[in-house]
Amino acid sequence: MKITAIVGSYRRGGIVESAVDDLLAAAAACGAAVEKIHLLERHVEFCANCRNCTLQPGPDRGRCLIADDVPVILDTLEGSDAFVLAAPVNFWTVTAVMKRFIERTVCCGYWPWGGAPRPRRASSRRAVVITASAAPALMARWGTDAGRLLRRVARLLGAKRVDTLWIGLARRTPEAGLSEKCRDRARALGKRLATPAA
Ligand SMILES: Cc1cc2nc3c(=O)[nH]c(=O)nc-3n(C[C@H](O)[C@H](O)[C@H](O)COP(=O)(O)O)c2cc1C
Repeated sequence: MKITAIVGSYRRGGIVESAVDDLLAAAAACGAAVEKIHLLERHVEFCANCRNCTLQPGPDRGRCLIADDVPVILDTLEGSDAFVLAAPVNFWTVTAVMKRFIERTVCCGYWPWGGAPRPRRASSRRAVVITASAAPALMARWGTDAGRLLRRVARLLGAKRVDTLWIGLARRTPEAGLSEKCRDRARALGKRLATPAA
């Protein structure tokens, strides 16, 4: 069992990465091999909208012509049994670094000229989406796009079941950490990803 987490936070050890760490630690304790990819540390170019990748038919993702780290990241995700997408809410949506990565996942869809984009292949994989916001979780859930967007991308990447951890009222003071309640929820989600039958 391999679980990969993609982190789109600007802060090392911030609220989002802390939740990811708790989730992965719980999954590792259940025997999963875990990997964390911090997008800020990777070379992720903007999508050039050339459509080379989207026009290639078939179940496999289209080849992107840009030479950066995105193909390796997508290979890692495709080689994982479950995955996590995590980003703070910034200006009502995900961070720019996560959005930049998301736009590159367009190669995971087949999109002929004049047609509508559609996912290439379904799988039975599971995913968890994590967002953190200064607003209360319920408000962020309905009033921002971050969670919805990450869930949609998780499905495009082949997840059949997607659970979400909404972390509200995040970082109300400079040194505020993740609440025990959110830590428990992150650990429970990690355990569930690592032991899907449990
Ligand atoms: C530029 C910027 C924009 C933000 N926009 C929002 C927002 O629209 N809604 C919200 O609830 N929180 C917003 N926040 C607060 C962050 O979501 C919050 O601080 C979160 O904990 C950051 O994640 P991190 O701890 O992993 O860095 C914003 C923070 C920054 C720096």
